[in-house]
Amino acid sequence: MTQAGTRTKDGVPAVVVALDFSDVESAIALVDELGELCRFYKIGSELFTAAGPDVVSRVRAAGCDVMLDLKFHDIPNTVARAVGSARGLGVRLLTIHAAGGEAMIRAAVQAAGGECLVFAVTVLTSLSGPDVSAVWGRESLDVSREVVRLATQARDAGASGVVASGSEVEAIKGSLGSALQVLVPGVRPAGTATGDQRRVVTPAEARRLGADYIVVGRAVTGSGDRRGALERILRELDSSA
Ligand code: C5P
Repeated sequence: MTQAGTRTKDGVPAVVVALDFSDVESAIALVDELGELCRFYKIGSELFTAAGPDVVSRVRAAGCDVMLDLKFHDIPNTVARAVGSARGLGVRLLTIHAAGGEAMIRAAVQAAGGECLVFAVTVLTSLSGPDVSAVWGRESLDVSREVVRLATQARDAGASGVVASGSEVEAIKGSLGSALQVLVPGVRPAGTATGDQRRVVTPAEARRLGADYIVVGRAVTGSGDRRGALERILRELDSSA
């Protein structure tokens, strides 16, 4: 079975498990529990705000890669300095908001210096079409078109990849080619609760649509059998095409 965190040549996306906890102990307990099943973890604003940079060192000390998902969105100088700090922590991948603009994305990429991948969040998967229309004050807006527009800007500014929902992967790859990687959150095995996510896909759909990475959070962390839940996701990815 494919190990979470690695992308195989036959198109199985790399799986990143989201450590959405408010303390280091719970996060490390999951890393220990999943063991060899997962070598790539996402640390987001909940855990990083509570535990600080030490948690990145702890996960790395367990032999795993870290995606720092703080979705930086600020003036270019501030984002460049934040990315410089993240680079110093040895994270493999970090996120910024594409809506911060081309100069901000360029500043982030330059500060990463090729030592960590910079992925730009296009439109949050928790937003539906009407939500996006309301935020940006535009009627009957096509989310997929907005995602491709933001992804184009991110690619032109040097980002390695973008974050988008599974339903937008084909439009991004069709328009920009496969060099720009796509990371897909909002992944839900059939029959599991969507919670606050709106634009969701199953693991098999994410693979079929061409995702390079998928992020799984509550589908694993909210399960009574967390290893079993991740094993089922990995099996679904392996057996779908
Ligand atoms: O529990 P669930 O699988 O919905 O978690 C998804 C994770 O991916 C969360 O940590 C969330 O912050 C993150 N994420 C997202 N949408 C994005 C970027 C990141 O849901 N566009």
